[in-house]
Amino acid sequence: MHTNSATNLTFTDYHPVPADFYEEIVAGLNQTPKRIAPKFFYDARGSQLFEAICDLPEYYPTRIEKKILMDHVDAISKAMGPHCCIIEPGSGSSDKVRLLLDAVNPRGYMPLEISKHHLLAAMDRLTQDFPWLDVHAVCIDFTGDLTVPDHQDDAHRVAFFPGSSIGNFEPVDAMRFLRDLRAVVGDDGGLLIGVDLKKDEATLNAAYNDAAGVTADFNKNLLVRINAELDGDFDLEMFRHWAFYNADAGRIEMHLVSECAQAVRIGAHTFSFSEGETIHTENSYKYTVREFQDLARATGFRPVETWTDTNDLFSLQYFAAA
Ligand SMILES: C[S@@+](CC[C@H](N)C(=O)[O-])C[C@H]1O[C@@H](n2cnc3c(N)ncnc32)[C@H](O)[C@@H]1O
Repeated sequence: MHTNSATNLTFTDYHPVPADFYEEIVAGLNQTPKRIAPKFFYDARGSQLFEAICDLPEYYPTRIEKKILMDHVDAISKAMGPHCCIIEPGSGSSDKVRLLLDAVNPRGYMPLEISKHHLLAAMDRLTQDFPWLDVHAVCIDFTGDLTVPDHQDDAHRVAFFPGSSIGNFEPVDAMRFLRDLRAVVGDDGGLLIGVDLKKDEATLNAAYNDAAGVTADFNKNLLVRINAELDGDFDLEMFRHWAFYNADAGRIEMHLVSECAQAVRIGAHTFSFSEGETIHTENSYKYTVREFQDLARATGFRPVETWTDTNDLFSLQYFAAA
């Protein structure tokens, strides 16, 4: 752990990425169909591209979730209770928690983020803007062992998981992760979670296929990253972004499609692609409010309150530990 020049910021680094990046990429590309875990999107450039996606006109989730947070901040802070410690997995820029801080007045804030430079830059800004906030930043892969450091231990804990990042998990893994969060927040804790809702396919497909091509750049950044960090030779022109709503599975799927038959080298390994073969890079599951409540209930959380926008595009749901 180290403390930075701002006295209200401490930092624990679990060094989540470099050791397993190569092994996981090789293992994923040896599977049929080929796949890469979405957590690898987020190097410094990937994090910036995600920020840009959040501002796209087609990408409704960020805009609407922020509006729900602002419109219902009093009810949300009442549900969270006074003087809690907010724990935010995948905190990114920590923009959304800013909308809660003045109303909730938490005793502590613990962002858990895989993208270290993005995390530290965001915390420098946050601690300047909220000098009274006691922050303990943690660089961690939250899909691994979710043990978090002690911080403001006499405060009750509320996990804040916005952005519908829960949709990136297979439902069975989402349940495992929610159980981990339930253990982290304890018997007097809570969970405030953003969940993207099932809706018409055109809206969903547009959100992941923006006209400006930013989502395509975000998807392809995986290949840029493999080339730079793992001595890969992906030809970026020979792969294209493909995203679509799979209604049977209830999820957006994101893939990179090989434009031709080709071989790609990564370090000592060579991978063959046939024309049209894909690397499956992300799923984003969509739920009804009821479906998600049932899932959360099975992991030890009790639904307390749900807030949605007027068009029922997105939901923010509060659960207490059952
Ligand atoms: C979809 S973005 C959401 C960012 C922000 N929470 C929001 O709602 O806008 C996902 C965030 O989670 C982080 N992330 C993704 N996988 C992660 C993992 N396995 N462990 C820790 N952080 C992760 C990414 O770096 C990114 O900042």
